[in-house]
Amino acid sequence: MEDKVLEIAGVNKYFYNPQQMQVLKDISFSITAGTFAALTGKSGSGKSTLLYLLSTMDTDFEGSIRIHGEEVRGKPGPWLARFRNEHIGFVFQFHYLLPEFTALDNVKLPALKRGRLSGEAATQKACDLLELLGVKDQAGKRTALLSGGQQQRVAIARALINDPLIIMGDEPTGNLDSYNAGLVFDLFKKISSENGQTILMVTHDEDFARRTDRMIHLVDGKIA
Ligand SMILES: Nc1ncnc2c1ncn2[C@@H]1O[C@H](COP(=O)(O)OP(=O)(O)O)[C@@H](O)[C@H]1O
Ligand SMILES: [Mg+2]
Repeated sequence: MEDKVLEIAGVNKYFYNPQQMQVLKDISFSITAGTFAALTGKSGSGKSTLLYLLSTMDTDFEGSIRIHGEEVRGKPGPWLARFRNEHIGFVFQFHYLLPEFTALDNVKLPALKRGRLSGEAATQKACDLLELLGVKDQAGKRTALLSGGQQQRVAIARALINDPLIIMGDEPTGNLDSYNAGLVFDLFKKISSENGQTILMVTHDEDFARRTDRMIHLVDGKIA
């Protein structure tokens, strides 16, 4: 049996302000380990809302979301916080870097929080990731001083430091030039195929989406 990292069944999501509106309608799909998947759809189709649920940041929904075999619905906040730090890497627009900390410290932080690596090992791993993403020369700078594209690459390095089972992103290459977008794409491709890490990325880039293993397309809150 294939290892299902994400299993979503019968998910409905409503917003109540200014009036009740069903944003996600009976969403069901699963993703096996090592898949590089793209989540696509027009603006307003529900992509960010779905990703927010899958990332366990929003717990208000109907249905079932299983990540690595664990039902996340109904779990208490501290359990979810630990689960996220161990198993999920994010590159989200709402998930900002700490502007007063250096790039290096931002990347190290999730590893130090997890407590499996020594400070020295975390520094080494963070440096390696920054190098892989072409921003090692920015390591000692406060992230407030970096360009949007550099910040995005630091955020990707931070998302990868705990070797998460699943990496989720909302337009993770949206601020990057084509060279660096290609670099990030190739890195995601490599870690999914070589390490078996699962990647789910919202993208508007048709070409990017077509080159992934799997496209999940939303139309008006439903899987097309
Ligand atoms: N917090 C919220 N309250 C009310 N409506 C929301 C909220 N967040 C998103 N929506 C609405 O839900 C729909 C889907 O939004 P979203 O998931 O952000 O779409 P996408 O990311 O595909 O552009 C849109 O109609 C949006 O206006
Ligand atoms: Mg969105």
